[in-house]
Amino acid sequence: MTAASPDALDPRKAALDALTRLTDAPAAGVWSSPGRVNLIGEHTDYNDGFVLPLAIPHRTVAAVAPNSENVLRVTSTFADAPVSVALADLEGLFPQARESITEWARYPLGVAWALQAAAPDAAAAHAAGLDIAIASNVPVGAGLSSSAAIEGAVAVALNDLWQLGLDRPALARAGRRAENEAVGAPTGIMDQMASILGAADAAILLDCRSLEVETVDLGFDAAGLTLLVMDTRVQHSHASGGYGERRASCEAGAAALGVTSLRDLDINDLDRAERELDDVTFRRVRHVVTENQRVLDTVRMLRSNGPRSIGDLLLASHASMRDDFEISVPELDAAVDAAVEAGAIGARMTGGGFGGAAIALVDRDRIAEVTDAVTRTFVERGFAAPTIFPVTAADGARRES
Ligand code: GLA
Repeated sequence: MTAASPDALDPRKAALDALTRLTDAPAAGVWSSPGRVNLIGEHTDYNDGFVLPLAIPHRTVAAVAPNSENVLRVTSTFADAPVSVALADLEGLFPQARESITEWARYPLGVAWALQAAAPDAAAAHAAGLDIAIASNVPVGAGLSSSAAIEGAVAVALNDLWQLGLDRPALARAGRRAENEAVGAPTGIMDQMASILGAADAAILLDCRSLEVETVDLGFDAAGLTLLVMDTRVQHSHASGGYGERRASCEAGAAALGVTSLRDLDINDLDRAERELDDVTFRRVRHVVTENQRVLDTVRMLRSNGPRSIGDLLLASHASMRDDFEISVPELDAAVDAAVEAGAIGARMTGGGFGGAAIALVDRDRIAEVTDAVTRTFVERGFAAPTIFPVTAADGARRES
């Protein structure tokens, strides 16, 4: 059984150690930003819809020291060599020259590039050379937004050090721009908003059209419930393949139905959508329209009836992603089914799909039973062992010291 939490690494210490290997200068500060799980609302963000994510305790830390060479030098515990770019060259780097930068470094350097563009006057006045060391205990490729955690940590650090004066939604927008244009993944803004704006013991209801955020108390602990992450360890990447295809189908569906985005449709529009669209596009649209409704229903149920009442909504969300949006994989379906059979209140895949993690809402005294059942199912089905661990809702991006 693999039930260990992947947070054995102390990212703060690891980042400070990595900074020491990079420079003799003392750290000017340490900043961090968390990974996230999405409770519900999948592939709705780039359709201007609703999402309900929470930040998790796993964090990415950036320790930063000034340098007098007018370069940005980044290093991380998941790469061998530091990457350097002259500040003067940053503007011309993305998107056109992104291939010249090693992949992991596109995230921090992409954020620096996007921040400069978001606050050009402040950047011109204050942007100075920096050495940035990054370390993380957010599992990579698990659908827990390790990339948004890097973007968030670097964004809050540079916002402080370069005195950019950007608010948190603007930092999230810069993170998404880095992801879209520096990395080339056509994602929405959920992950960056969740990482930067997360709140302890709460999920955030985000309207991805207005970027308005409401905090929604989860009350899991008081109800004797735990949220389990079941990382299938099936790796995925949103820079290629299915994610972009789904996004294109949603845009095609909205255009064919004469709306700006699928946010502008509701359940009552689905009959017309079925008549006017081909079967695949219709099912993509139906997922997004019903998922937006499920997010709003989940918030209403959490507030009126408490967390034990949201199980069916989580299950309906998973079924919609499996059957209509077709972004699940056998390992995710097996994890969800086994968790529910072993008594989970609800479960669903979380994140962009094609691999990564599922979540299960479980009675505290059933954690071992659910963990064993999922692990046993994976053995029986010949899948690699999953990593299963509990998460609580944690604070978003912050300065650590
Ligand atoms: C990934 C993307 C997000 C969002 C989810 C699906 O996590 O980064 O923007 O689209 O997939 O909900």
